Amino acid sequence: MALHIVEHPLASKILTDLRDETTGASRFRELGKQLTYFLIIEATRNLKTKPKNIRTPLADFDGADLGQSIVVVPILRAGLTMLQPALELLQDVSIGYIGMERDETSATARTYYCKLPRLRDKFVIVLDPMLATGNSAELALEAVMEQEPASAVMVSMIAAPEGIRRLENSFTNVPIYAAAVDERLDERRFIFPGFGDFGDRAYGTNQKW
Ligand code: URA
Repeated sequence: MALHIVEHPLASKILTDLRDETTGASRFRELGKQLTYFLIIEATRNLKTKPKNIRTPLADFDGADLGQSIVVVPILRAGLTMLQPALELLQDVSIGYIGMERDETSATARTYYCKLPRLRDKFVIVLDPMLATGNSAELALEAVMEQEPASAVMVSMIAAPEGIRRLENSFTNVPIYAAAVDERLDERRFIFPGFGDFGDRAYGTNQKW
């Protein structure tokens, strides 16, 4: 499985501002949206296209349209912050939702909601800003791969080496797209140095952030 790190000066600045503990919820969501544009552009680099002939105001033009149906699957709740920018770029897509809860003591994930459209032969993009232990991503990808999509990609803002290894062991054919690989997980299984709790920071649900 390939790991693709999206490197760009603007993405580095956005990442730094996301990491900054003084960044408030509204700005945090906006920065997350901006970073998602970079990630989605990179994650769809190998999408197939098909010819589309149109007319410009001046001439006939042999253009291109997307040649694959796309399904976007945000992992709730943090992955929801990446949905809107993904839809802005991709437009005609189906959306699946997978709800995961993390037990803060064991840091294991539990699926509490799973509503997926037909995925067979589709290009599936799974969204979760934090690839930490890889537990949620693994459960989500198991549900996705069961339906035999044409291909699937995992898109995260930051990944921890532990999460990357876990997906590498479980799925040989699911590339990961991330803007950074951080040092490690801390004792609470948070990505270190990371962003803290992404959902709490984005939705303003923890006063510490
Ligand atoms: N989820 C988060 O929101 N933050 C982490 O660091 C790890 C998982």
